[in-house]
Amino acid sequence: MIHKLFSVLLLVGFLGIGSAVNAQELQASLAAVGCVACHKMDAPLVGPSYKQVADKYRGDSAAPALLLSKVKQGGSGTWGPIPMAPHAHLSEEQIQPLIDGILAIE
Ligand code: HEC
Repeated sequence: MIHKLFSVLLLVGFLGIGSAVNAQELQASLAAVGCVACHKMDAPLVGPSYKQVADKYRGDSAAPALLLSKVKQGGSGTWGPIPMAPHAHLSEEQIQPLIDGILAIE
């Protein structure tokens, strides 16, 4: 009984650490390409927080492609009048994992 409880706790602890590491990795990747100048994880800055983006598009299968082209080409009007600058210097292979990471935020 105690044994079982212990392994459940271990599992919970492990999952907790796992997602913290992923969030940290995502944060580092976003910082490396300059997204953090305008976005924070859980509060709006110049643009919406990544948590807001994740909530808005949860379950939307068109979102990964839509957001990829939005980040690459820039644009405004979804969250307000302030435009996001284009990121034409980043490849789709660089941007897509960032989008996937953002959309996976709980
Ligand atoms: C110069 C500031 C700025 C930078 C740098 C920036 N963004 Fe944005 N971002 C914005 C603004 C402003 C919006 C809101 C645009 C709108 O309302 O349509 C936005 C919106 C978004 C959205 C939601 C788009 C939508 O249509 O819902 C995503 C996803 C996003 N940004 C990701 C990124 C990523 C990834 C990077 C780094 C490669 C990045 N942003 C860099 C300002 C920025």
